[in-house]
Amino acid sequence: MILVLDFGGQYAHIIARRIRELGVYSDVKPCDMSLSEIGKMRPDGIVLSGGPSSVYDHNAPLMNKKVLDLKIPVLGICYGEQLIGKYAGGTVLAGKLKEFGKKEMIVKKNGKLLKGLSKKEQVWMSHGDLVTELPKDFEILASTDTCRIAAFENEKRKLYGIQFHAEVAHTPSGMQILKNFVFDVCRAKKDWQIGDLPKKLIKEIKKEVGSKSVIMGASGGVDSTVAATLLHKAIGSRLYCVFVDHGLIRKNELEEVKEYFEKKLSFRHFFAVDASKMFLERLKGITDPEEKRKIIGHTFIEVFDNKVTELEKKHKDIKFLGQGTIYPDRIESAQPSKYASKIKSHHNLTLPEKMKLKVIEPLKEFYKDEVRTLGKELKIPDEILNRHPFPGPGLAIRILGEVAEERLKILKEADYIFIEELKNSGYYSKTWQAFAALIPVKTVGVMGDARTYEYIITLRAVTSLDAMTADWAKLPQELLEKISTRIINEVKGVNRVLYDISQKPPATIEYE
Ligand code: XMP
Repeated sequence: MILVLDFGGQYAHIIARRIRELGVYSDVKPCDMSLSEIGKMRPDGIVLSGGPSSVYDHNAPLMNKKVLDLKIPVLGICYGEQLIGKYAGGTVLAGKLKEFGKKEMIVKKNGKLLKGLSKKEQVWMSHGDLVTELPKDFEILASTDTCRIAAFENEKRKLYGIQFHAEVAHTPSGMQILKNFVFDVCRAKKDWQIGDLPKKLIKEIKKEVGSKSVIMGASGGVDSTVAATLLHKAIGSRLYCVFVDHGLIRKNELEEVKEYFEKKLSFRHFFAVDASKMFLERLKGITDPEEKRKIIGHTFIEVFDNKVTELEKKHKDIKFLGQGTIYPDRIESAQPSKYASKIKSHHNLTLPEKMKLKVIEPLKEFYKDEVRTLGKELKIPDEILNRHPFPGPGLAIRILGEVAEERLKILKEADYIFIEELKNSGYYSKTWQAFAALIPVKTVGVMGDARTYEYIITLRAVTSLDAMTADWAKLPQELLEKISTRIINEVKGVNRVLYDISQKPPATIEYE
């Protein structure tokens, strides 16, 4: 396996995913992990990730310097490279030249790390600091016009550093570099295949749960459905699924989810709890996004908790809480990495804290594409596996400002039309996520000679690999026109449709 030490950049997870794509298991751990813990993992190689800090920051995330002396190959990326530079005795210059974007790199020596790369390569830079003086016994592999030490090595000690990000698509030879490191330098074995996992996971669940029962929230999303299906295969009717209908779901959503669980999977215990009135009541007058998220999160837990208590009374062997948490869920709430800054509070993670049940999360080590592969192995229908992600707080964070019943109704209809057209045109599967959002601003329009004064609907469709970065989807103009015309004609209360052309970062996928 390849260990990725996380210095706070969201890139750490992209690195691990890329390595897993190469067929080698990779795990992300906090950078200050102890040497003995590292030893226990027996990694074939270690990658030091990038991160938002400068090695000179007062609170800069650091690792034990001796990681470089473990005789395990190390590749430092960006911040990780600067750390190697600093620890090995080179000079790192702080903040003189901030670089962000594509650069041309000249390869001076391929060595093992840059094997197969051309003389000139495009790379993607995002940094403030730079290694300006090589440590002793290191050699420069590549440079750009502003960065003399864009890649370095100490072949004897098997220490390598690159100033650019090899893990992102903007560095076309990035995968080759990771491949070189993983196979040529670390000599890791290609033995990680998701397809082989269901049997192992089911066995693990059986062992952990024993003769007890599991209760879990099922949202109909990919993650919770794959998790529930795995649990169902392991323990059958000892699985209880609860769908909390907070009223902030998409049109027809509950019916579709019910159909899958009850008809296709023949689940014995699927419970839908209609709490939509309670949620709307509590959201009255609330406009602040984080407050909305908190109210929804807390109310969700309360409703779910009540249902669990009710079921626990009847079924005394319910001892586990199943969750569809996947690896990246733990990043945006700044969970494993204390150095990543908190972006939005994902309410799904707060759920187990209040419960006395033991948490079981069969998917917690997997990335989204891996979860889909697992789902395929489990024969879950494509329409569920290829469903776009949907946030826990639902449509509440797509109605900017106050969530009122009328707005909810408008948004549901507009979103339904958008998704229907995307599916009909084949663009649904070409986008990572697509949805409509309601901007609570009224603008003037004209319809049938009369003045209208109605809401704005914005359409958001993005392409992405993992939701950490995203680009706006280049949908055909004719399609956008058709969607806009349909929404304005068919949805009462809307007279203007916008298409969102912002990237993440700096925008996010959702609006709140
Ligand atoms: P952002 O808006 O942060 O979203 O770019 C990244 C991805 O996360 C989803 N998202 C959520 N998912 N609970 C979830 O389960 C949440 O509270 C939540 N907030 C955002 C979002 O839809 C996108 O796929």
